[in-house]
Amino acid sequence: MKILIKNGTLITPEGQQKGDLLIESGKIAAMGGSLDAGNAEVHDASGLLVSPGLIDLHCHLREPGYEYKEDIASGTRAAARGGFTSVCCMANTSPVNDTVSVTELINAKARKNGVVRVFPIAAATKGMKGEELTEMGDLKEAGIVAVSDDGKSIPDAGRMRLVMSYARHFGLPVVDHPEDPNLVGGGVMNEGYWSTVLGLRGATRVAEESVIARNCMLAELEGAHLHVAHVSTAGGADIVRQFKARGVRVTAETAPHYLYATDAWVEGYDTNTRVNPPLRTDEDVKALVGALKDGTIDCIATDHAPHHKDDKNMEYALAATGISGLETALGVCWTALVVPGCLTPGQLLAKMTAAPASIFSLPGVSGKLEPGQPADITLIDPESEWTVDAAEFASKGKNTPFHGKKLTGRAVATYAAGVRVL
Ligand code: DOR
Repeated sequence: MKILIKNGTLITPEGQQKGDLLIESGKIAAMGGSLDAGNAEVHDASGLLVSPGLIDLHCHLREPGYEYKEDIASGTRAAARGGFTSVCCMANTSPVNDTVSVTELINAKARKNGVVRVFPIAAATKGMKGEELTEMGDLKEAGIVAVSDDGKSIPDAGRMRLVMSYARHFGLPVVDHPEDPNLVGGGVMNEGYWSTVLGLRGATRVAEESVIARNCMLAELEGAHLHVAHVSTAGGADIVRQFKARGVRVTAETAPHYLYATDAWVEGYDTNTRVNPPLRTDEDVKALVGALKDGTIDCIATDHAPHHKDDKNMEYALAATGISGLETALGVCWTALVVPGCLTPGQLLAKMTAAPASIFSLPGVSGKLEPGQPADITLIDPESEWTVDAAEFASKGKNTPFHGKKLTGRAVATYAAGVRVL
């Protein structure tokens, strides 16, 4: 089984180069220049970028327990449609992924029903209750790539210290959802001008920033690898920058919506703009772009959080938080970052491929186009202008604030281990 991707622009660690890429037995057999492969099936990639498959460190696939919102079959199809070939799924399922048996169930379902690679993340504490630690060593042997109680923070600093100390022994990154519930105090959007105008209770940015600072200090104390989830504020990025400069092992992600949408989008009370952390301000968007450019924010993760329409179809303050993001991530980032010239295509794609692969040391996935590597490949049309239509999503979650928006840049084909999945 050979596939020859011809006449594309290859995105390699050395930069962009025109050339062909040959897939054989699920692996990259050869690349560069003009290749001739006899009986190979030819895929003409003229005008397209040939990128390593996108990698998402942070998504919610909802299985087991919330299959009415998403399952591994629909979530991995959404990933493929968005150009992703690997996704790491969070533990806030039902039951919570806090045991080897739930991790094994996810792995088995992924093998059976998934179309892209799935790497489970286990909870850091049992039942995500912020108390008793999970059996991280056994979970690592079962295939988890990180621990996280994402969806909520671990409010007790002493407990978080233990999580970091324990995770470090197994070489596992601790992914923290930085949010002080007392400071959020029932806030449902960013505290500021728009929360006042709209009459909605605001959540201060300090709820996020204070926990980022606390956790960076604990990571320094314990020598642990802290990965900060969905940084949404200028101040949060600045704290990460300072601790990186001190040599602390902290990495950070932001999500596409924090690079494009702001709290002004809440006008109209569309519950699809309700997300945690909340959409922030223009100044935050600019600061996050700067933090991506200077390397403070290492990667972009979707925080794909699909919900059923019944979870969103209610008054703003009661609606579920989250955005279905796998199918818009590339277009949103391309439009927000590449089109205005903030990042080059290569810089953006590195934040969605090689950087995430190395942050979690994903087994068997480098996020780079190299001969011998699995053929996880995404063909991108950088000129494609398209309008988001949530009804077309493969995800069961149609909850997007980008519905009807015009975006530039789109995945047009995805190969996972050499199999075409888009
Ligand atoms: O908005 C969010 N939704 N933020 C999170 O951290 C969790 C997620 C979910 O699971 O729905």
